[in-house]
Amino acid sequence: MSASESKTELRLGLAGLGTVGSGVVKMIQDTQDLLQERTGSVISVVAATARDKKKDRGFSMDGMTWHESAVDVATDPNVNVFVELIGGSDGPALDSVRAALMNGKHVVTANKALIALHGSEFAQLADDHNVALNYEASVAGGIPIIKSLREGLVINQVKRIFGILNGTCNYILSVMEETGRAFDDVLKDAQDLGYAEADPSFDIGGIDAAHKLAILTSLAYGCEVDFDSIYIEGIETISAHDIAMAKELGYRIKLLGIAEKSDAGISQRVHPCFVKLDRPIANVSDVTNAVVVDTDYLGRLVLEGPGAGQFPTASAVIADIADIARGVTQPVFMKPARDLKPGAAIAMDQHVGEYYIRLTARDKPGVMAEITQDLADEGVSIETIIQRGAEGVENVPIILVTHKCQESVMNRALQRIAAHDAIVRPPRMIRIEDV
Ligand code: HSE
Repeated sequence: MSASESKTELRLGLAGLGTVGSGVVKMIQDTQDLLQERTGSVISVVAATARDKKKDRGFSMDGMTWHESAVDVATDPNVNVFVELIGGSDGPALDSVRAALMNGKHVVTANKALIALHGSEFAQLADDHNVALNYEASVAGGIPIIKSLREGLVINQVKRIFGILNGTCNYILSVMEETGRAFDDVLKDAQDLGYAEADPSFDIGGIDAAHKLAILTSLAYGCEVDFDSIYIEGIETISAHDIAMAKELGYRIKLLGIAEKSDAGISQRVHPCFVKLDRPIANVSDVTNAVVVDTDYLGRLVLEGPGAGQFPTASAVIADIADIARGVTQPVFMKPARDLKPGAAIAMDQHVGEYYIRLTARDKPGVMAEITQDLADEGVSIETIIQRGAEGVENVPIILVTHKCQESVMNRALQRIAAHDAIVRPPRMIRIEDV
């Protein structure tokens, strides 16, 4: 498509007419005049595919050619921008995006798994064919974090980027804290409300957040996307007791995705964190997402907003489409694809931080001495220790907060502690994060 053509007509081919896809069509139909006014282009959906052709989606399909497959939409000669809203890192999503790029069509997608796993290949294809690959909606729904990194922060070095990247987990942790209810119970609510993905294990297991983090890391540090190096822990084992203890100690538990660069390389991790109650990120609740970027020249950037939902996500998809209409093309990951190199990954056992430990122990003489001796032998210094036994109760929780130490050392100490007969359940460790 030449620059002059891009200013006059954008002919979209849409694959996937679920919640987000339907939202995109409705918004384009409802905001035609505004879109034209702001982009100088006529933007319309000329081709589409979805699982069910006959379903009433509440908008007119007049003027759209129906195709039986996403690849057919991507290769339809009438389409000059392919919009992939199917989801999933393989199958039709992968085949159609690849086909679109190889056929020289611009691509817009909301698919975090696809970009997290195939982003480097796609970046090269996009560069080779001189087309845009835009994916704003793939991270934190409606929050314009990709634009902020790709454009606004182009001359800043990112020291650390972190955030609440999964609304389902944030909702579950918020409701558990507000109500004292158990994890499984609140997860069911999140599913009934439609927050969780079709397979909730991707949400609660931290994988969805890790897909998003992989994308942010690549943009922040101008390196290849490296999902496999991310350390991932979900929120499945967080108990109402941990949440209550966090509060008592002055913290709140949040699932964070964190990427950080040091001289040794790049660390990427997704796990539950204790964060101080007075920090802005501790007060982002329910399904809301937030991303914080610490940089050299700009300082700290904080973005907070809806991380999911039909129209917030569709709004981000249309912003990407509008960029193409305006002739704005950015390198996929901050620099030309040929210059993207793997970022040296730092292993999790090199992490240094403070830790919250929950032990369950028999209430008998000498147990505390054994535990503290193990910690002393490994050189782990205790900041706080709490044990509240009660008359006639056999097993009691012991809560420890440590000073900073290396994670490999913490793990060794926990292995020794777990080996005592008096420790009746595997220790639970949650990292305390200085954000
Ligand atoms: N299921 C995701 C979440 C929304 O809970 O944040 C889309 O990425």
